[in-house]
Amino acid sequence: MSGILDVRIVQQDSEPKIPVTLCTLSVGNTFGESILQDLPRDTTVVTQTTCELLRVEQQDFKLIWEKNKDLMNELISSCKFKNGFGPSVTASTKMQQQPISPPPRRSLSPDQPNPAEPITDTPSITISKIGKSLRTLLLSENTCLKDRKVSGRLVRRCAPGTELVDWLLELSPGIHTRAQAAGMWQALLEEGVIAHVSREQPFKDKCFLYRFWADEEGTAPALPTHEDVAAAEVQLQESIVTLINRGPDAVLRMIMRKPSHERNQDDLETIYEELLHIRALAHLTNSVKRELAAVLLFEAHPKAGGVLFHQGDEGRSWYIILRGSVDVVIHGKGTVNTLQEGDDFGKLALINDAPRAATIVLRENNCHFLRVDKENFNRILRDVEANTVRLKEHGKDVLVLEKISPQQKTAFSYFKYTVMAGTPQKMLEHLLETRLDNLAGQSNTAQDPFLEDFLLTHIVFMPTHLLIDELDRNYHLESPNQDRDFVVACKKRVVQFVYRWIVIIRHPVFEDESAVEFIEDLAAEVEQDCIQYAELQEDCSMIHYVMTQLRRYQEDLKMHEQKWKLPPCGQPISLFSGGDEENIRQMIHPQDDIIFRVYCADHTFCTLRLPIDSTAETIKLIAADKLKLRATHELCLVDVRSNGERVFFKDNDISVPTALTLNGRIFVSPKDHLDALTPLAEQEEPTQGIDSDIELFSTKELAYYMTVFDWELFWCVHEYELIYNTFGRHHFGQITANLDVFVRRFNEIQYWVVTEVLMSISLSKRVAILRKFIKLAAYCREYQNLNAFCAIVMGLSNVAVSRLSMTWDKLPSKFRKLFTEFEALIDPSRNHRAYRLSVGKMQPPVVPFIPLLLKDMTFTHEGNKTCLDGLVNFEKMHMLAQTMRTIRFCRSRHLVLEPPSPKSEGEVKSYISCLRAIDNQKVLTNMSQKLEPRRS
Ligand code: CMP
Repeated sequence: MSGILDVRIVQQDSEPKIPVTLCTLSVGNTFGESILQDLPRDTTVVTQTTCELLRVEQQDFKLIWEKNKDLMNELISSCKFKNGFGPSVTASTKMQQQPISPPPRRSLSPDQPNPAEPITDTPSITISKIGKSLRTLLLSENTCLKDRKVSGRLVRRCAPGTELVDWLLELSPGIHTRAQAAGMWQALLEEGVIAHVSREQPFKDKCFLYRFWADEEGTAPALPTHEDVAAAEVQLQESIVTLINRGPDAVLRMIMRKPSHERNQDDLETIYEELLHIRALAHLTNSVKRELAAVLLFEAHPKAGGVLFHQGDEGRSWYIILRGSVDVVIHGKGTVNTLQEGDDFGKLALINDAPRAATIVLRENNCHFLRVDKENFNRILRDVEANTVRLKEHGKDVLVLEKISPQQKTAFSYFKYTVMAGTPQKMLEHLLETRLDNLAGQSNTAQDPFLEDFLLTHIVFMPTHLLIDELDRNYHLESPNQDRDFVVACKKRVVQFVYRWIVIIRHPVFEDESAVEFIEDLAAEVEQDCIQYAELQEDCSMIHYVMTQLRRYQEDLKMHEQKWKLPPCGQPISLFSGGDEENIRQMIHPQDDIIFRVYCADHTFCTLRLPIDSTAETIKLIAADKLKLRATHELCLVDVRSNGERVFFKDNDISVPTALTLNGRIFVSPKDHLDALTPLAEQEEPTQGIDSDIELFSTKELAYYMTVFDWELFWCVHEYELIYNTFGRHHFGQITANLDVFVRRFNEIQYWVVTEVLMSISLSKRVAILRKFIKLAAYCREYQNLNAFCAIVMGLSNVAVSRLSMTWDKLPSKFRKLFTEFEALIDPSRNHRAYRLSVGKMQPPVVPFIPLLLKDMTFTHEGNKTCLDGLVNFEKMHMLAQTMRTIRFCRSRHLVLEPPSPKSEGEVKSYISCLRAIDNQKVLTNMSQKLEPRRS
């Protein structure tokens, strides 16, 4: 009433239980109109400062209301919230009562806007006042408003459009053209103050008849009094100015409400000029805007709280807000975003041919939109849409989509946008909504990498326990006022997601306890839900398949309980495997035991048997205990390499024994005595390989069994191990033992080649062995064992071998040429272009050059942030997944090779399974120099 006064409206939000300030009211604002409906107060009003208020009791307020309904309505809806969050107390509080689910379905969209109809339920106070005074003046002059007969029917007090225009022109010198005057009348018609007598025409400067609504209704006084006329005259100037201002917009709206085919060239030009100022269209070319001018439709909604469309609905139109604002409401989340004048919405569903991602609720009375219907959108806009779409929730970006470039489009043409960044939750939501419907029927979906990228990389940004929480939430999006189809669609998507998860990721899902529990519960629920929703039948079969896979995995695990031994040097050997397929190498599991040695500075050792996933700390403590190291010193676990280098294990490192370098040993030592750690003598010797003359084996047979062996090692590596390895195993608490063993194999082959050459004392023997390795490399390439191929070529390129000029000189030129060709293939320049081109032409099965995949992962990881502005950088995830997909591609067909005619099968098999190798470069160089001393 006076002074500075601030009233805060606070609402108890159901979840979480914190008050939400909806708006701040100040001097001149009103509140508390819910007493009209005898409802309990749905908001709390809190004074911020000392306030003086005027209060009207309920009884009196109701009386005043009934008498001045229209006026009061206008008052309330024009009472704007000061903080810009909404137009009226009524509208806003209505929305906030149900924060988690959108209001029930109520169709709003007038499909065909009619320019002859008013766009508001009731005229605004200003326009009704202006209408009243113009009518008063017209009646007092007794000129054009007359009773006329129209099609045999008497129409009271009407006038032709032309005469109304003449009258206005005469009335004020400020009105210059007939078109301007016609626009002013249209402003009145638009709010229902005047109307065409048969409600068929907007205002036209023609002989169509128009009359005031008051005369149509018969509520106005017969003739105005002198006082009425005097008051109207006083008001005239202001009324004219208001109408002059409002006229052009009213004409524009009238044009935009005409059906496309009725718009003439002038109309199109007028609309086009308007479109030049609309923010949502700023990125479009002028020619696109001209095309839009022909098809854009104007749509007005008088009442706040109505639903424009529902989440899950089919997308039919794209919208731009011309006036007012809307709330974006998502099931289970409530209002996540508010869109204002100039914003657009509703194109996601059109672009991705997906259901609506949110419900759109009108926040204000008299919201105006421009609408482009799907057919026109696809024809004009689908290909020229903005490159980036940003979705916000609570004022923050939650999803950034980018248009798929034309090059990518051929492969993934079904979807227009790809996810660039997002919150984990929103990305999952988008994935479920756009990529999982009718998975079986959409062959295109198979080509879209988003689902696969997400499944391959979610462990980086959304640990499994959070993923299953979200899946669980999405499966249970039921609420009483929800559409059955929507509920079923949500359930189906979750089941299909889980199915794809199992197919793509396989055993890590079954190894995660929380995931197993979730899948088991889900299976039971789907079965139950099938009774209520027959549509879930197909999903029931899917979840049965998942359960069968789970049970099979669990049984397999029980049957194939394993124990491994890490020989002092050499790779882990399976000591016991319950399975019958003796020859098939088993995967190393986190719970498998491994037997290995831990040494002390004096080279005494203890032998431990621990699960693979034991931490370095556990190993350290147990070893220290066994070796009787005094606990007074701070201890550490170290990989002592054959060249004397010492590399620490962090306390939380896991799969330590498999992570050792080729000839490395695990040592435990007090931290301040590390200098005392020296390699064992045996570390400089070849690893425990079989001391056979490889000349005795057929090269083809060697290559064949090496490929079969390497293939099995490669088969055991899970794509996730690349992630664990790149981001650090300890972040995930997961082992990388299978990857470690495969990488070790690469080094083993490489140093085996160097060792074998250098252990051949006679020149002729060395030449023969060089030839053998070049031939072996050629066979490995033929068998597409690129890991072994690269390892052999790199071994031969090792300086200790490459410097043996006498040996190389004696090599037949055919072999030298072949080797030069091989070297070109492993040339690292231009990011291993030669290798990539060559492998790009191969069909699976392929054993890939694993160090390059690890390098790609590391480069991607180090060169790109995982989070950008609080969002997951999904582009990085996509790049990581591309590398992981290479592994999937290489294994997408089983290895079936024609075995060479057996000569010494058994011996070759055991020979290639453990290759002897020296990995100390200094030792190797010394050996080389002894063989062929440097020429002085
Ligand atoms: P569409 O899915 O077609 O329909 C709902 C629209 O709401 C959606 O397109 C987006 O244009 C818009 N929208 C704005 N913010 C969000 C959000 N955070 N999540 C989903 N949709 C949003």
